[in-house]
Formats: sequence, structure tokens, C-alpha cells
Amino acid sequence: MAKRATTPPARGSWAGKMGFIMAAAGSAVGLGNLWKFPWMAYKNGGYGEAEPYGAGAFVLIYLLSVVVVGLPVMIAEIVIGRRSGKDPVGAFEALRPGSLWKWVGALGVLTGFLLLSYYGVVAGWTAFFLLKSVTGSLTVTPDAGKEIFAQFTASAPMQVAWMAIFVLLTAAVVIGGISKGIERVTKILMPGLLIMVFWLFFMVMGRENASSAYAYMFYPDFSHVTASLVLDAMGQAFFSLSLGMGAVITYGSYLGKKDRIVTCAVSVTFLDTLVALVASLVIFGVLFHLNLQTPGDGQGNLFTAIPAIFSQLEGGTTLVIVFFLLVTFAALTSTVSLLEVVVSYFIDERGWSRKAAVVKVSAAVFLLGIPSAFSFNVLGDTKVFGMTFFALFDYLCANWSLPIGGLLITIFAGWILTSKETEDEINTHRPIHAFWKFCVRYIAPIVVLLVLVGIIAGVGGSE
Ligand code: PHE
Repeated sequence: MAKRATTPPARGSWAGKMGFIMAAAGSAVGLGNLWKFPWMAYKNGGYGEAEPYGAGAFVLIYLLSVVVVGLPVMIAEIVIGRRSGKDPVGAFEALRPGSLWKWVGALGVLTGFLLLSYYGVVAGWTAFFLLKSVTGSLTVTPDAGKEIFAQFTASAPMQVAWMAIFVLLTAAVVIGGISKGIERVTKILMPGLLIMVFWLFFMVMGRENASSAYAYMFYPDFSHVTASLVLDAMGQAFFSLSLGMGAVITYGSYLGKKDRIVTCAVSVTFLDTLVALVASLVIFGVLFHLNLQTPGDGQGNLFTAIPAIFSQLEGGTTLVIVFFLLVTFAALTSTVSLLEVVVSYFIDERGWSRKAAVVKVSAAVFLLGIPSAFSFNVLGDTKVFGMTFFALFDYLCANWSLPIGGLLITIFAGWILTSKETEDEINTHRPIHAFWKFCVRYIAPIVVLLVLVGIIAGVGGSE
């Protein structure tokens, strides 16, 4: 393996396996689980429409994607990161110098940049809702969340301002370096988030009609499966697990040589999936219990359902504060990982100082975020390919760039890296390595390719 002169003397590392698991889970568990998964399930599940048929097929295909594609790709990314000890571009360059593979890393860095720009808008919503919960106005009436959400997203200046606040917050974390800060923070926040989500679950699911959420989430009706549903499910698996753009490569580069990659990958995947499912049950449970109509396409579910239920409970105002605090932190640990990918590229490959990289990249993210912030108001009717900028950026990143990045990563790990290299790195029982190798060589790339080709060929219609 070529050692390059630019390798920083001490890149830092996680204090232990738990540090990686919590930080990677912090990256994985975010708005993708709490906001996007329930919305995607809703979008592909037809809640409240003339003929409600439920999200079971979407959920099942999602779970399948997580197991046969997500988990193998997660292992592949950790392998690439730890073996090279580099940012995504540097990682491919270190492992196969002078090849075109570094462009896979470059695609990842670009995707991280674009993803952060629109993710920051929704992250801004969480911070704003945190503020609103502190003032108590979210829980005045069951409809308060809905009204505040509608007014807030309709205001262009507010959207830009709160996106800016969140980008600043992210920059403040990343500028301090990643090692101790991220690990220490995520080790507290992730368990807190888990406790909160489970607590909500037990509080909500026993209520009248709430248990309809189980059937809604898990009863599969395959008659509504289209190519676009499958692409949504697979794209969501990549998005939710932070795969396909080098976030896990970057975090994996700080993993100790002795730590077991498979254990790490399984833990992160399990935690991420658990939170997505439990959070969705909670949100749909509330919607069924209160018989709530969701606004528009369901993107506001998180912001309307949770305040609605808390408004009816004693001590609800305090609880809603805790809840949005955790959602905000979940979003923050994800935006930090996104910004870190781009920043680490400029530091490692372009020789920028961390400070300069953070300042410049954040400014650029802010500018690129403006069309997304405007997508809910002044540019709401401006459509490119039938989508607002926000929807377009999300569609490009989640449904195309992450799966394509993931596809190339599986090809790299399965076909370019030798078995000696990967065995060495994964360091597990032979049959497990062989099974993983089979997945990254054949199953994962073929599945991803089939879905992408299916979409391009227009099988089953698109959006
Ligand atoms: N996984 C994060 C979430 O679920 C989003 C993310 C995607 C973060 C890609 C980093 C990289 O919210």
C-alpha cells in the first residue's frame, strides 16, 4: 500500500469500538430515521387516501435492502476507510494509486455537499421547533404544531435564517476537530435518543387506535409496488445508513486496527433500523390515535404529530422540549458527519487548514441551501423535472448518487481489492468473510444495478 507524503502525523482515532459505533450511529440516525423514513413510508403507503393500503410493502423492501445491500456496503466502507486511513478521495487513491477510483470518492464529497445543503433546511426546522417548544407555543392546542409548521415553512426569510443557524452550529462543531468532540457528544446523545424513542413508543402505542400503525407499517400489499417504490426504499436504505458518499469511509479511517468491523457494522445498522421503525410506529400511532390529517405530502408528520400528542399530556410542554432537543441533536450529529466529509477532503487533499475549510465550505453550503429553503415558499411553484429544488436535490442524492456511489464501492471492495486485503482487514471467520464477499461481488451490485436500470427504462412508471 502506497504511503503518501501528505499523511498527517496524527489523525486521531476513536477511544474504542464504542466510540466508532456511537459516532457512526450518530451519523446514521438522523432526520433520515425520524423525519424521512415516516414520510417515505407515508408517500409509498397512501395513508388517508381514498384507498389506504399501507406501507408494509415499502417497509419490507426497505428491510431487505438494508440486509442485502446496506450491511455489505457498510462493511466495505469501513474496510476502505480503515485500510487507507484517509478521506474518501485520498482513500481510493491510497489503495489504488493513479487509478480512476478516486472519482468515486470525489462523487461522494460532492454528494455530501449537496446533501448537506438541503438537509440543513430540515435540520433548521428542528432547531426552530426546539425554540418553539421552549416557549410552550407548540403544545397550546393539538393543532398548534400544524399551524406553526405551515406558517414557518411559508416564510422565505425564516427558512433561510434557520438553515443558516444550523449550518453555523454544524460548523462550530466541525471546526473543533472530530476526535474527542464527536465521540464524547454522541456517546451521551445516542443512548438518550434511544431511551426517548422507546419511551414514546410505550406511551403512544397503548392508546386507542394507535395499534393500527402496526398493520399500516407491516402488512405488505405488493399490488402497489412500482419501480419507483423500490428505488425509494433502496435509496432510503443508503440515506439512512449514511452510505454511498464516504461518511463511513471517513469515520472508519479513525477506527482502531483491532476493532472488529463486522460487529461495528452490524451494531450501527441494527440501531439505525430500530430507530427508523420505532419512530415511524410512534408517528403513525399518533396519527391514527388522533385521527390526524397530515399536511400536503406528509413531510410535516414529525412536526405535527409529536406536538399534537404532547399537547394532550400532563407535562407535555417539558417532554416536547426534550423531544425536539434530541431530534435537533440527531440532525446535528448527521450534519457534522456530512460537513466533515467535505472538510476532510479539503484538508487532506488540498492542504487547507481546518478553519479555512470549515468557513469556506459552510459558506458554500449556505448559498447552495437557499433554493431548497425557498422551495416551500417563493419558489414553491418553480419546478425542475416536476420537482422543487428541495425535492430535486433530495431525489438526486438519495435516489441516484448514493446508490451509484454504493454500487461503485461494492465493485471496488468485491472486485478490485484482493481477498487477502479484505480478509486481513475484516479479520473474521472465513465463512462470514466469504458471505460478505459474495454479497459485495454479486448480490449488492446486481440488486442496485437492476433497480437503477429498471428506473431508467421506466418499469412501473416513475413519480
Ligand atoms: N443518515 C443520515 C440520516 O439518516 C443522513 C446522512 C446521509 C448523513 C449520508 C451522512 C451521510 O439522517
